[in-house]
Amino acid sequence: MTFLEFVLLLLVLYYVIYVVLWIVLDCNVALWYKSRFGVSLSTMRGQVVWITGASSGIGRALAVSLARHGVRLVLSARRQEQLEQVQDECLQVARGLLAQKDVLILPMDMLQLDKHQSALYSVLNHFERLDVLVNNAGRSQRANWTDIEIQVDRELFELDVFAVVHLSRLVVRYFLEQNGGRGHIAATSSIAGFSPVPFSATYCAAKHALNAYLMALKTELRKLDVTIFAPGPIATDFLLEAFTGAQGGKVGQSTANQKRLTAERCGELFAVALANKMDLTWCGLFPVNLMAYCARNATLTKILGQYMTEKTLNKIREGKL
Ligand SMILES: NC(=O)c1ccc[n+]([C@@H]2O[C@H](COP(=O)([O-])OP(=O)(O)OC[C@H]3O[C@@H](n4cnc5c(N)ncnc54)[C@H](OP(=O)(O)O)[C@@H]3O)[C@@H](O)[C@H]2O)c1
Ligand SMILES: *[C@@H]1O[C@H](CO)[C@@H](O)[C@H](O)[C@H]1NC(C)=O
Ligand SMILES: *[C@@H]1O[C@H](CO)[C@@H](O)[C@H](O)[C@H]1NC(C)=O
Repeated sequence: MTFLEFVLLLLVLYYVIYVVLWIVLDCNVALWYKSRFGVSLSTMRGQVVWITGASSGIGRALAVSLARHGVRLVLSARRQEQLEQVQDECLQVARGLLAQKDVLILPMDMLQLDKHQSALYSVLNHFERLDVLVNNAGRSQRANWTDIEIQVDRELFELDVFAVVHLSRLVVRYFLEQNGGRGHIAATSSIAGFSPVPFSATYCAAKHALNAYLMALKTELRKLDVTIFAPGPIATDFLLEAFTGAQGGKVGQSTANQKRLTAERCGELFAVALANKMDLTWCGLFPVNLMAYCARNATLTKILGQYMTEKTLNKIREGKL
């Protein structure tokens, strides 16, 4: 074998291993690597992490993963009773690392922008510090592109984009005033936030917009850590509340029996991404994970798009393939 052939062989092998990893892993390779060999979650012990949308699903699972390692928490959402259950669960898994006062319940409606500042004051009054804001509250969508009422476009952006940007601005100002610009802003985006899927046009656009806002922030304030965490299909109740195309509509479906990554695993991977201050990461089962990789490559996206109907794409995103 000549030297050139040897180099070529290594190159081919490299790509083969990469593709195999994309098929067998449930997240991007860098995140998987950090989950094994990166900074341990216990380095975040004692930090204060504020999670919105903590009453269910991914937010709840993230809270539990962090509590296990003694991370102090602020749990926000509208449903107080659910937040109390999450608080109990956090205290249980913390096994003495956290006391009741270390897990603050802060009920809030993200859409009430005029209450954001007083919510931030409540956090600072209670803990006298804030290390990470995790913007997780949000609603998805199922609708045909042509049926979407413009009011729905506006309402979805109001929750998934503008409320997040508004709260983040207040927190970033606090980071600038108190910590010389050091701090950590994170958001639950979606794979649909960089790879559009059918029947969720407004949602795709909103998560794309959210990513752009956060990436722009990172280019301006270099000391700030920014984490965009992009899940694929996760087994949560999000379809109950998802927007349709009609104003006031909700999908009202369960995701039971669909092939989806568990919320627990998703929360664990999210926590790893935070502890390791990763910028953009994602998770999902095959073939979502492989597709997320392809979506980062314009050529492959075009080729895939030609061979996959909107029905196939939809099956994949609904966890039915
Ligand atoms: N599940 C998936 O497949 C998936 C995939 C990619 C991305 N995501 C993203 O993950 C995030 C969490 O979704 P999930 O799947 O965990 O669904 P979920 O269980 O429905 O969680 C949504 C959370 O957002 C909160 N929320 C909704 N509207 C709110 C408002 N106006 N003010 C304050 N909180 C509000 C809800 O709490 P209250 O109802 O108590 O207010 C709940 O805690 C969302 O941003 C979603 O876009 C989910
Ligand atoms: C989109 O339109 C088709 C055909 O009218 C319908 O069968 C389908 O249920 C619609 N999808 C959604 C998400 O509303
Ligand atoms: C995208 O994939 C094509 C085909 O495999 C490859 O030739 C190209 O270099 C890739 N581009 C990037 C930016 O990775």
